[in-house]
Amino acid sequence: MTEVTMDKIVNLAKRRGFTFQSSEIYGGLSSCWDYGPLGIALKRNVKDAWWRSMVESRDDIEGIDCSILMHPRVWEASGHLEGFTDPLIDCRTCKARFRADQMEQAQCAKKPSKRPGEHDDCDLTEARQFNLMFKTFMGPVEESASTVYMRPETAQGIFVNFQNVLTTSRQKIPFGIAQMGKSFRNEITPGNFLFRTREFEQMEMEFFVKPGEDETWYEYWSKARLEWYRGLGIRDENLRLRPHDEDELAHYAKACVDVEYKFPIGWSELEGIANRTDFDLRRHSEYSGKDLRFFDEASRERYYPYVIEPAAGADRATLAFLVDAFDEDEAEGESRAVLRFHPALSPIKVAVFPLMKKEGQPERAEKIAAELRRHFTVDYDQAGSIGRRYRRQDEIGTPFGLTIDHQTATDDTVTLRDRDSMQQERLPIAALVPELTSRLSKPWKR
Ligand code: GLY
Repeated sequence: MTEVTMDKIVNLAKRRGFTFQSSEIYGGLSSCWDYGPLGIALKRNVKDAWWRSMVESRDDIEGIDCSILMHPRVWEASGHLEGFTDPLIDCRTCKARFRADQMEQAQCAKKPSKRPGEHDDCDLTEARQFNLMFKTFMGPVEESASTVYMRPETAQGIFVNFQNVLTTSRQKIPFGIAQMGKSFRNEITPGNFLFRTREFEQMEMEFFVKPGEDETWYEYWSKARLEWYRGLGIRDENLRLRPHDEDELAHYAKACVDVEYKFPIGWSELEGIANRTDFDLRRHSEYSGKDLRFFDEASRERYYPYVIEPAAGADRATLAFLVDAFDEDEAEGESRAVLRFHPALSPIKVAVFPLMKKEGQPERAEKIAAELRRHFTVDYDQAGSIGRRYRRQDEIGTPFGLTIDHQTATDDTVTLRDRDSMQQERLPIAALVPELTSRLSKPWKR
């Protein structure tokens, strides 16, 4: 079985243009990553799949896209200004900073074989609470009155627009509001490639329900979200649900369960499903003076809905799909790396190759590629041996390869090669669009 390490993933991601380190020509900015041509295609496919499943395929969830900068009172009401902190310890000698609750895994900056505090020179401070929100200034004046925060979660944009969406969409409880977008957290210890970064993209949905029905919906969304990852090809043995212990719960949550993935760094959170109760709507009512209760026409009751929140990370999910897809095997006597993506996630769906650079094969192949590009993402490649070209596509997870050869000129057929089985079959050019469409929409399991 292939051993998947974070190094192998980072190397492949860099070599093939999935990700680059941010500001690389200046030495890079730690824990910040840029998505290259294939990376953005993969991440967009992940986000599209989420949006399709959470918004477009349902009639009880609406979409929204809020600004990153919000009124500073939002973060007072949400509790983030006071409580969104991690305990921080400094070493006065080497200026390293650690999370007090992660000292077991931390290394002394001078002597990496020792823990902070175990080395004679270590001079550690007491733990103090460090707020994770990034601050900036609105307008040209850098003074505290103009301080604003980069949002640390997209959820608050949804809560403060609850009444706006309710009145304009004609939804009734239970219903949800979904949002994808960047959030920022000044993490003390970011790292592990795309797993923990200070700037990251969230995919969050707040589902508003009647108090008393919250536990049923919490179960519903826990199962539904696990199934989403399974449906996109993540293997069952690498996924699990882990309920939070009482002392892990965020300040707004009554319960939370994580969908965890077995990353090369061990089982870690992919997504959290939290029961946020009526905490946020109550607090925003109190702080804004606006009544954010829901009026139930049938029962003539007015109440604060409870909220079930599936909160996923687009970057983390992209990393999990990359890791789970990674495989190494042998093809035609050569070792190959292959990304066994669910075809819906593959950045390129079809690669088109002329077998040889003669007999009009490149011209025919380019014409087929142009036609297919109206329906799918297509890569055209005529460089190198056909085996090399298949390997290049396998390595980026392209599910189908089409080869135009000598026979194409005589009977208008091409060969279709499948990434996973490596089987080839001949198909008429006229059948390609319906055949590929049908294969791309079939259920797929690794
Ligand atoms: N909204 C939950 C989170 O950002 O983790």
